[in-house]
Amino acid sequence: MNYFEIMDEMFSEFEEYKEIQKGKGIRGKLITIINPDAHKLAAIVESIHLASLLHDDVIDEAETRRGVASINAKYGDFTAVMLGDIIYSKAFFELIDFGKDIAKIISNAVYLLSQGELEDVKLSKNINTDKAKYMNMIYKKTASLIEASCAAAALSKGYDSEKFALYGKNIGIAFQIVDDLLDITQDEKILGKPSMHDFFEGKTTLPYIYLMESLNSEDKEKLIKNTGIIKKGLNLLGRNRKTVLSHHKAFELTDELEAKVEEMLVCLKEEKNGS
Ligand code: IPE
Ligand code: IPE
Ligand code: MG
Ligand code: MG
Ligand code: MG
Repeated sequence: MNYFEIMDEMFSEFEEYKEIQKGKGIRGKLITIINPDAHKLAAIVESIHLASLLHDDVIDEAETRRGVASINAKYGDFTAVMLGDIIYSKAFFELIDFGKDIAKIISNAVYLLSQGELEDVKLSKNINTDKAKYMNMIYKKTASLIEASCAAAALSKGYDSEKFALYGKNIGIAFQIVDDLLDITQDEKILGKPSMHDFFEGKTTLPYIYLMESLNSEDKEKLIKNTGIIKKGLNLLGRNRKTVLSHHKAFELTDELEAKVEEMLVCLKEEKNGS
């Protein structure tokens, strides 16, 4: 059975689970590329990721996910939170069989992920222009689980888990920066989740941090006033989303991370070839 099929078996008794669409399965893919026998571990990590999304959509008040109505939109916040808890608990129950080291790596990532989600909420209360805070927050909320996926899969295969962890961490950070860019550049149909939602929710992601840096104090004030309350269809400061995109620094940063990932890929190949 592949990891999606294992997940379906784990949660088949919950009717709401059946309404959930499959995602890209990136964390599971990374795990099973590193260790093709690790489908059960991949199912556990994808379950944890799914639980985090159920909670995330409640936190972000998101009405769509993976192209359909989110569980919170369809059944309400209580159901989404409890289904998330059920999925987390079952995943941890199954994780114990993988031994102390792997269980610690994965559970520590969930500890970090939850802190990252809390920091994301806290940062959105005021306009944040501190890049270090943003980077730390996205490391925790997104990269930590991808880092742990790679490290745990490597450990299960007898590879050097530190190298794989670093690879996963860089992919994870780049992944969230790209997600934050796509929120601005793409529409809901392509994303399968709401577009421009970070701005409506007051989330000051990297493109907005760079936009803030480039504004004069009057425009800055307008942006701060509108963040989180501006409604869809209105232009940002009378400009459109292209204005945000004209601040290329965020893209440059993802190029930098991509180069790092390339470096790590070379590392991984060497590790696999035993050199
Ligand atoms: C969504 O993750 C949350 C972020 C970290 C941006 P994915 O984009 O991996 O979600 P699915 O599982 O493919 O839907
Ligand atoms: C990632 O943040 C959420 C988690 C890591 C749980 P986002 O809030 O940006 O994710 P999306 O855009 O809703 O998928
Ligand atoms: Mg969200
Ligand atoms: Mg969120
Ligand atoms: Mg997002």
